[in-house]
Amino acid sequence: MSETPAISAEFIERRDPRTQSQGVEPGYAHTAQRWPSQPLQRRPLTAAELSGPRDLTRRLPRVRGDLAGYGDKRAIGQLIHLRTRVVDEDGAPVPGAVVEIWHCNAAGRYIHPNDTHGAPVDPNFYGAARLVAGDSGLVELRTIKPAAYPVPDAAGWWRPPHVHFSVWGRVWLSRLVTQMFFPGEPLNEADAILNAIRDPEARARCIARLAPTAQGPQDALVFEYQIVVRGRKAASSLP
Ligand SMILES: [Fe+2]
Repeated sequence: MSETPAISAEFIERRDPRTQSQGVEPGYAHTAQRWPSQPLQRRPLTAAELSGPRDLTRRLPRVRGDLAGYGDKRAIGQLIHLRTRVVDEDGAPVPGAVVEIWHCNAAGRYIHPNDTHGAPVDPNFYGAARLVAGDSGLVELRTIKPAAYPVPDAAGWWRPPHVHFSVWGRVWLSRLVTQMFFPGEPLNEADAILNAIRDPEARARCIARLAPTAQGPQDALVFEYQIVVRGRKAASSLP
């Protein structure tokens, strides 16, 4: 039996903590539930953790490539196309990455029992998709732009419009959970989650780019976004 490989210390140290969320944020009670309360301990990963499962895309198949719908089933809101590219630290595409995407509707409401926001549910909008990156690392989603929403019991804090991402690598333990923001949104400046990243360049990498409208489809705005999955410019982990 081969010796269990250890986490590369070099890999861990290449991550600049200023580019990552600071963990428990004052004023955002949920971060205390989503962050370890004890200091992290480094332990070697097992062979199974480093190699399994063998076929992630079969266990996590593609689900919906379109959240906006058409005609009578069209979700309410501004139609957008999200063009997200998954790349490694050298900018090379990561084909086969499983990308889960979810966001609230155009009134700021999630389809989730924990969402007690009084905004209306849109019966034509579910709000979650799972895609698999192609050879160029690209995943494309047709959807509607999510709205801002107030954080309950948070003294007037509103989340800016944002999209949640979960990116799986080849194995279960290779997973990045993060959020994408929209350019030019005034609420970005005060958002406790976005600003939990201390490095301004790392924050800027969390904001999508609006593609030139003359080049896109007539009925939708196109937002381009890049997720770097490792290395010094790796996307920030955000809850
Ligand atoms: Fe959210």
